[in-house]
Amino acid sequence: MKRLFDDDSEETTTFVKMKPGARERSLLRKASNVKPTKKTSYEGSSAVQRWLKQQAYDSEPEAEQRQEPSFQPTFLSGRRDAPWILSSLTPLYDQKLITDIVSEVSSGKEATVFCCTAHPDTDYEFLAAKIYRPRMFRSLRNDAIYRYSRVQRDEEGQAEHGNSRRGSAATRKTERGRAAQVASWIEYEYQTQRIMYEHGANVPRPLAQIGNAVLMEYIGTEDQPAPRLSDVILEQEEIQPLFECILHNIELALIHGRIHGDLSEYNILYREGKVTLIDFAQAVDPYHNSDVFSLLVRDVERVCQYFAHYKQFNHDARTFARQIWTRQMGPVPEDV
Ligand SMILES: Nc1ncnc2c1ncn2[C@@H]1O[C@H](COP(=O)(O)OP(=O)(O)OP(=O)(O)O)[C@@H](O)[C@H]1O
Ligand SMILES: [Mg+2]
Repeated sequence: MKRLFDDDSEETTTFVKMKPGARERSLLRKASNVKPTKKTSYEGSSAVQRWLKQQAYDSEPEAEQRQEPSFQPTFLSGRRDAPWILSSLTPLYDQKLITDIVSEVSSGKEATVFCCTAHPDTDYEFLAAKIYRPRMFRSLRNDAIYRYSRVQRDEEGQAEHGNSRRGSAATRKTERGRAAQVASWIEYEYQTQRIMYEHGANVPRPLAQIGNAVLMEYIGTEDQPAPRLSDVILEQEEIQPLFECILHNIELALIHGRIHGDLSEYNILYREGKVTLIDFAQAVDPYHNSDVFSLLVRDVERVCQYFAHYKQFNHDARTFARQIWTRQMGPVPEDV
């Protein structure tokens, strides 16, 4: 298993040119660690808590009889959302994957990412745990193109075909139906990351997915998560190889039946001259629905737009997207 800090476990110090304000924004994000998060009534709802318990027990039926000390990270003391985070991360603790929470890396609309101390058995020092807020139950993406480009689960956990619009609508009506959809959504993100990792893509190694939590390799140091591409200024000589690396990852995903669907400089981390693609929450299967060609174009466009900030870098995104699609999928849908 690969250690986080390279071959000799020796942590090296590197200096990255950060964009003005990027470090401040990052510190602000860290400062939010101590600020209690506003509690929404929905997060404590019994339906949500029931779903969490069920997820945890499904993955570890004997959890109730556990003799070991329970998970009580000091990081959570005083936080109003502690019960919710605790119930999301305890199954990872029970499975000897994490031992503590170090910091909150990021808190977005739908998910919060924590840096956790890894259990020694994992061979990692830190791991990133991304946990979805229960708010997801209410606000599953309405974007039809995503819903119809995946296999989803109905209330009974049976695969429901992405194209079955009637089925999906009926399923979403009930609390259980929405919970099943959220579970299937998070599983899909995890599966996508697994597929990518197993085929050599530049993504954090995914370790586990339990309920609303995805556990993966942490990119960064104890003090600082790796900056996003949007936060750094690349050296001239890095531009072309990193651009090519990202396009290679886009093509690798397509070869293995995935389009990222939300790729941009905000979902790419930069560390020691290398990029790592993250956040596969919106990934889609191009074999399920060829309309997703437009998502591939958008991913490539955003990457090209980012690199276009650097002088003498002007590439036609649509041409790249068409080339990638044609190589892997055949004729481009808009030409057919
Ligand atoms: N494996 C990781 N290692 C280090 N940092 C990570 C990792 N995964 C995510 N992050 C950090 O957490 C942030 C949010 O993660 P991600 O993009 O997966 O979630 P999100 O729901 O899209 O959140 P946001 O809306 O803030 O983008 C990232 O921008 C990155 O800074
Ligand atoms: Mg993101």
